[in-house]
Amino acid sequence: MRNAVSLSLDPTSGRVRVSLNSNWRFQRTEYNPDQLVYDTRPDISYLNGSDAQVLKPYILASANDFIKDASNRHERPDGEPGSNITFVKVNFDDNSWENVTLPHDWAIKGPFYTGDNVPVGGGMGRLPSHGVGWYRREVDLLPADQGKRIYLDIDGAQSYAMVWLNGHLVGGWPYGYASFRLDLTPYVNFNGVNLLAIRVDNPKDSSRWYPGGGIYRNVWLTKVEPVAVSHWGTYVVTDNVTQGSATVKMVIQLEKNSNSTQIIDIATDIHEFVTKTGSRGEKVAQFPRFTRSFNSSGKRTTTQYTTVSKPLLWGPWSAQRPNLYVAVTRLCIQNQTVDTYETQFGIRIFEYSSSEGLLVNGQKVKIQGVNNHHDLGAIGAAFNVRAATRQLEILKTMGCNAIRMSHNPPAPELLDLTDRLGFLVMNEIFDSWQMNKTKNDFHLIFDDWHEPDLRSFIRRDRNHPSIFAWSIGNEVGEQYTNETGAAVAKVLHDIVHEEDPTRPVTASMNYAKPYMTFPKELDVLSLNYQGEGIRDAPAYAHLSGTKTPPLYPDFHAAFPEKLLMTSESAAALSTRGTYMFPVLNGTSAPVNDTSGGNSTTLRVSAYELYSADFGSSPDKVFSAQDHNPYVAGEFVWSGFDYLGEPTPYYTARSSYFGPIDLAGFPKDRFYLYQSRWAPEIKSAHILPHWTWPDRVGQVTPVHVFSSANEAELFLNGRSLGKRRKTEYEYRFRWDTVVYEPGELRVVTYKNGTEWASASKRTVGLAAKLRVSADRTDIAADGLDLSFVKVEVLDKDGHVVPEASNSITFDVEGVGKLVATDNGDPADFTAFPERTRKAFSGLVLGIIKGTGVAGSIKVTASAPGLQSGEATVQTQ
Ligand code: GAL
Repeated sequence: MRNAVSLSLDPTSGRVRVSLNSNWRFQRTEYNPDQLVYDTRPDISYLNGSDAQVLKPYILASANDFIKDASNRHERPDGEPGSNITFVKVNFDDNSWENVTLPHDWAIKGPFYTGDNVPVGGGMGRLPSHGVGWYRREVDLLPADQGKRIYLDIDGAQSYAMVWLNGHLVGGWPYGYASFRLDLTPYVNFNGVNLLAIRVDNPKDSSRWYPGGGIYRNVWLTKVEPVAVSHWGTYVVTDNVTQGSATVKMVIQLEKNSNSTQIIDIATDIHEFVTKTGSRGEKVAQFPRFTRSFNSSGKRTTTQYTTVSKPLLWGPWSAQRPNLYVAVTRLCIQNQTVDTYETQFGIRIFEYSSSEGLLVNGQKVKIQGVNNHHDLGAIGAAFNVRAATRQLEILKTMGCNAIRMSHNPPAPELLDLTDRLGFLVMNEIFDSWQMNKTKNDFHLIFDDWHEPDLRSFIRRDRNHPSIFAWSIGNEVGEQYTNETGAAVAKVLHDIVHEEDPTRPVTASMNYAKPYMTFPKELDVLSLNYQGEGIRDAPAYAHLSGTKTPPLYPDFHAAFPEKLLMTSESAAALSTRGTYMFPVLNGTSAPVNDTSGGNSTTLRVSAYELYSADFGSSPDKVFSAQDHNPYVAGEFVWSGFDYLGEPTPYYTARSSYFGPIDLAGFPKDRFYLYQSRWAPEIKSAHILPHWTWPDRVGQVTPVHVFSSANEAELFLNGRSLGKRRKTEYEYRFRWDTVVYEPGELRVVTYKNGTEWASASKRTVGLAAKLRVSADRTDIAADGLDLSFVKVEVLDKDGHVVPEASNSITFDVEGVGKLVATDNGDPADFTAFPERTRKAFSGLVLGIIKGTGVAGSIKVTASAPGLQSGEATVQTQ
């Protein structure tokens, strides 16, 4: 999709970019198979000082384009490290290796590690992400390619990627979330076989969440003529934006890799970008044509200006529209196109107000955001456009308009999606700097790599209109070292501004205080949990650990000129469809075995009142924000449940933080956010479910999430009273309801007028399955996906809320089952399994095509139940 307007399709464009995703051979070993190592590392001390070949001095040179001061650039030593390793050799027989297609995440198929003393524990998702992976494939290059530059573009490889071509070490890039380019040209064989061998090395204890393993994003081969636009070589900034016109500034960097003198004509046109078709629309402006004479190799930068009249502005949904433009740059030598390069961008004005928050095109936009980790649930870290699109679509139905890329650069296509769907983005790069959070995290390479990683990150992403802020770090340990830490923040801040002076820099602070030096170095302030307060409500009083009062007012007072927002709020916890009694009387409490949690079943009550020790319920967060209306908004921790970090139960596999579970099914909390973030939706959502044979006669509180301000609850037709939400209340509660089977019904009112109603009834025994696909027409390409939901129903067609029947998927026709899930953080059935227990009545199957047009029949069956089926067509 990134290449929807793919220039590689145009043979006259001079630039060819082809996917290298298919036909890889792959092997992973848990232990080092080859004595190669990027650098000495605490977890592989057995290699230190032995026959190990340390490749760092050779790899560092790959960073040079992103190191500003020439004296800090790296000279590659002589030698051919690794050339003795059979895996890099052209004639090595890799037939016994696995056949894989990228994006590929070697760990996601499992099996899960369960119990204690396992190589990868709950924090990193209990999946085998560690170890060394080797990837090999041949690359087609032709005699006609001679004279061109041949680049390898890797969008992300987890981690410590090192690349050989035809047995020669080309280079590499350690940070697993970085996109990078390597120049293959010196090692290419234009008249025969070209063998690429890529080694990735994923340490244990390298992350606080599931990192995935391997080449988990797209890989491209880019061929350009000796004169071309540089990698990420354009930078578009818009200014003087009015209804009538906008100034567009474009910086273009050209590179020349030959010594002959050449005169190059450069022309850039601006077209509307048609999001629906992913193609160029009408031409709306052009930059002045200009000519450059180059007589030697090197890089040259030019800045140009033009005006777009009556610009169609980019703005976030729902109040605005995400209009886009594409600048098409053509380089010609003697009327022959030698390069064509496209830059998508948007025209918009961001204003960062300390009193009003974020203004987009003059209009205040409250940030209703979520944090998202990079995994896509059951398909893991392997990036997939459809799976990411589905996440954004689900978030939209919740009213979400912003994403924080916690805590690392996303796949480039995700930013194309946020541009096109109209989400605001806080784009973040690091979770740690020099001070570590885990033994083998980024701190090991910070000194060498912070600059190239940061510069390449900004250059890659700075044309995306959806990005409104850069975050240089999340809760870094340097917050605790005052001046020393602030000095590091300043270095990073200044690098960002050299690459993009137009957007503010922030770093998320869960500890730094208004009187410290750290926040002074940041352009806008983003707090984690400190805004609403940490462990400061009565129910948290018994906890040890830092207690912080709500700090919005103090930060606002100390920095009256800075926009203040929350980059992490809530850290509320729940398991979908699980309710525990008694229910908290208050509005927020830490979870434990006597309060909303069960450490045996590994579940947390979905009354949505419970949080991590340092967290708060959404209700408490909303109240803090409404008391401090200058706050620009929040990013909830987190949007979806994600793999790893299963607070409070580290024996589980995935988190409990999302209002949406790992399978993408909404929890009750989804409707609480929806009621606040999408007040125009006539919503009414009742919890808990109403099938409690063991609770007859017992108090069973009923809560309702609704955008209305009054609600009346009926049990079997009897009114249980009308409630009105007062200021700083966000839910309707009837806490003394005595359970009896039958029907609960709520009727809500907004300003006295009936608004929305809902009901929940006692259901019967599981009898049948209903199967429904989120999309019944998909592309056959094997990349497009259909997410198929299976519901366990009673004979009357109502979902059986606690059903846990074992469900088996059968897929016939031109499709395959990719994975299954049920959203239970404690389900250790491996994701590729076709039989999985329903959880709270639901199971998910993910289906893809096999490359052939036709029809896919998906059948779900379970012992004793009537099966269900759905059909998906592929084109
Ligand atoms: C924050 C951290 C997040 C996540 C969250 C929930 O402190 O920044 O990455 O760990 O807590 O535990």
